[in-house]
Amino acid sequence: MEKYIIGNLKMNLLTQAERNHYLSSFSSELKKSKFPNSKIVLCPPCLHMEKFVGILQGAGVEIGAQNIFPEERGSFTGEISPLMVKNFGGKYTIVGHSERRRYFDETNAVANEKIKLALGSGLRPIYCIGETEDERRRDLTFDVIAGQLEEGLAGIANTQADKLVIAYEPIWAVGTDAVPTSDEVMEVKILIRKILSELYSPEMAERIPILYGGSVKSRTALEVCVEPGMDGVLVGRESLIPIEFLKIANIIDKAQ
Ligand code: PGA
Repeated sequence: MEKYIIGNLKMNLLTQAERNHYLSSFSSELKKSKFPNSKIVLCPPCLHMEKFVGILQGAGVEIGAQNIFPEERGSFTGEISPLMVKNFGGKYTIVGHSERRRYFDETNAVANEKIKLALGSGLRPIYCIGETEDERRRDLTFDVIAGQLEEGLAGIANTQADKLVIAYEPIWAVGTDAVPTSDEVMEVKILIRKILSELYSPEMAERIPILYGGSVKSRTALEVCVEPGMDGVLVGRESLIPIEFLKIANIIDKAQ
């Protein structure tokens, strides 16, 4: 399967100068390598999306949103709809990120609505799942993951499932420097694949990419992605440094 190297820029790039610097440095780093086996995707703040599409899409980088509201249009002050993202050139949206779950009460049910509307609008949802440190300590990882998948993907038809991307992000590894072992990642991957094959046909379940996210760096990419056979990564902090992000992409792209 093609690999997915996805950057989540979060609430960064505060000025036009900072954004322009990022884009020019990303573009020049991008010219140094080819990624024949991977899709490179960046999810900037929505304010920057049009500029990212204009500058990077022609160079083969796809753009996504970090969040959407599950309605097409209307009186929802402050929100951005999947159709807006789509019409401005976005192809993906992150859904259910642990920071959205923690600070904005995004439950599995809310994530489910967002996933449905994203798919209906032609966006590919990148659905984030993962356990907290406390759940891990209490040996609840498998139950939590199963619940997030079953509730978050409820009602999504087999015919739409090939547009899904799943990102396993153990919450205790997001924004820290802790990472699970490659065996731990692989166990969760097997579980996710098993649940997907209960929800969808086995052929379809095989086609849904399962990524790892949480403290991915060039020095951890082999351990958290390549060794456990993940289909790519969702990268936070390191995606703010184009040279580091593309180093991670190179390691994963060339490891096939
Ligand atoms: P991190 O973030 O790479 O900074 O840990 C990952 C994420 O939030 O997707």
